[in-house]
Amino acid sequence: MLPRKITDKIHLLGAIDWDRRLFDSLIPLPDGTSYNSYLIQGSEKTALLDSVDPAMSHVLMEQLESVGKLDYIISHHAEQDHSGAIVDVFANYPKAEVICSKHGLDLLRSHLSLPEECFKVVEDGETLSLGDKTLEFVYTPWVHWPETMVSYLLEDNILFSCDFFGSHIATTEMYVTNEGKVYEAAKRYFAEIMLPFRKSIQKNLEKIAELNIDMIAPSHGPIYSNPGFILNAYKDWLSDESKNLVTIIYVSMHGSTRSMVEHLVAELAERNIETAQFDLAVTDIGKLAINLVDATTLVIATPALRVGPHPLVVNAVYLASVLRPKAKIAAIIGSYGWGQRIVETIGPMIADLKLDILEPILIKGAPQQETFDRLKEMAQTIAEKHKQLKVGSTKHRLQKLPRS
Ligand code: FEO
Repeated sequence: MLPRKITDKIHLLGAIDWDRRLFDSLIPLPDGTSYNSYLIQGSEKTALLDSVDPAMSHVLMEQLESVGKLDYIISHHAEQDHSGAIVDVFANYPKAEVICSKHGLDLLRSHLSLPEECFKVVEDGETLSLGDKTLEFVYTPWVHWPETMVSYLLEDNILFSCDFFGSHIATTEMYVTNEGKVYEAAKRYFAEIMLPFRKSIQKNLEKIAELNIDMIAPSHGPIYSNPGFILNAYKDWLSDESKNLVTIIYVSMHGSTRSMVEHLVAELAERNIETAQFDLAVTDIGKLAINLVDATTLVIATPALRVGPHPLVVNAVYLASVLRPKAKIAAIIGSYGWGQRIVETIGPMIADLKLDILEPILIKGAPQQETFDRLKEMAQTIAEKHKQLKVGSTKHRLQKLPRS
């Protein structure tokens, strides 16, 4: 891919990673991803904003071949998918300064092999003149690492946001054209890495809202020429309001736990509660994470394997506890053969989430009418608690939001 013009002096560089299917050896990338880098050529100085994943460094280096001088390499975020190729860039432009935040310095030095004197730390709110272009650096910590910052190009009202507002999509479209598709991809990305830092990111969003932004240029996925679309989406995802949604994670080995899940889903539907059930043996955990952004109630359904919960359930519960979802209520259901210690295992894993945990329904063998009656009572309890909590509507949950 050749450098692509945004304006005469601003170009999109970087690499499209069509085939990447996992991030952090965990997060599914059904649509691949991109590592966007931006080149700003001011009347006096030239700056490269972020680099690319080291595996695709050669793509960026080819794009830079016609760039005679580089004065600054701006590193918004030290994670390797953006900082990894800085070493190669610096090797070609050894006089360039590597600009980073205070925390960025420590992280970049521990991740990259670069001389100490090449780094220049900028403060929150500091500006850098490129001649006729001026970058303002805005600290946005914990998106999703402690050092993260963004840059705002004053003359063009463009926010270079790195991971913030990003979406994992491999596409040759420079700008967002299909907001529905990007909405889900951006929400998946938000759920997987931003959700645990919701409170910090809320503050960052407020800080950014003070800027007059015409365009948001992230480091993953297409550029937002209608920034209100993604700013509104983030406002919703970051809010404390959870939705009228129950997320059920389950495994069933011989059908008993599945039967319990299906009865509970039917009873919840009777009460106009949206439910999403995820069979952990086959599910895409990204879809599960998206649902955890909104769910008020998390139901954990498991058979006993020996006497503990199924290992896939343990894995998903651990993931949910790491993501720190907005959920306020939890329930544990399932069946066992001869004995179980399911609550004793799962309970401590979700203790930090401070959930209102309902009376568990754990039965020996196949569910009978008495089990179904208890599941009906559980659905009624969930419905009453959702009402008390004044949960939000699920209307726009997986759709694009209206344009601002
Ligand atoms: Fe895209 Fe946190 O790296």
